[in-house]
Amino acid sequence: MIEEAAALLARAERVVAFTGAGMSAESGVPTFRDALTGLWERYDPARLATPEAFEADPGLVWAWYESRRAQVERAEPHPGHHAIARTAATVITQNVDDLHERAGSTDPVHLHGSLFAPRCSRCRKPAATPVGPPSDGERIAPPRCTACGAPIRPGVVWFGESLPETAFAAALDAASGCDLMLVVGTSAIVQPAAEIPHVAARRGTPVVQVNPRPTPLDPIATVNLHGPAAEILPALIGGTT
Ligand code: OAD
Repeated sequence: MIEEAAALLARAERVVAFTGAGMSAESGVPTFRDALTGLWERYDPARLATPEAFEADPGLVWAWYESRRAQVERAEPHPGHHAIARTAATVITQNVDDLHERAGSTDPVHLHGSLFAPRCSRCRKPAATPVGPPSDGERIAPPRCTACGAPIRPGVVWFGESLPETAFAAALDAASGCDLMLVVGTSAIVQPAAEIPHVAARRGTPVVQVNPRPTPLDPIATVNLHGPAAEILPALIGGTT
């Protein structure tokens, strides 16, 4: 299987990578559907990542994102991130971490926003970053907007919110303009992001998927490589850092 995928890659001139939380798992950033641990084990991420949760308890939601930011700041990109930086012209990611950037990918498209782009919850003015040293409390009052005084919110897309329009348009463009799509570490169930690999597949573009577990994309992938990103990608693309 890996030889078949490597042959497809060798023929491709414009590779686009589409990544999800599994891409960062081996860097120590837990996936969205992993159970939370420690201070956060009583909470369900899907219930913290909503505008309603922030409205009801801004300190709780801000603290959770601060703890995720701290976790990401402690993490390092792994050989799979570096392999992607070497081969993909564009990276489209659902991840809110910055591991692709730190591995050398230029301007990844962040479909679900970023932990490093907080903004005002009312007037949308970007907040200065960093907003302070990340800390690990269970409730931290979010800082206030310098323009309007409303609480600053994380710059991520929450459940029930639309994707940033420019990012989604850039992702659709990249997906329709590539000649190979590499899909890594996504459960491919959260729409509309999960539509991106279908855009490529419908045009007859080969799709190579890397995931230890089956996903709804298995039937449309030209090759399914079942294994962890940090091992499979360097083996497929070459190199270790
Ligand atoms: P999920 O947490 O839904 O899925 C992670 C995927 O990574 C699963 O398919 C795992 O099998 C796979 N995986 C786990 N370890 C891996 C490894 N070492 N190498 C490769 N793959 C591995 O994450 P996403 O698909 O990114 O949205 O979730 C999509 C969106 O749903 C997230 O961006 C977030 C979330 O709820 C919002 O917050 C809007």
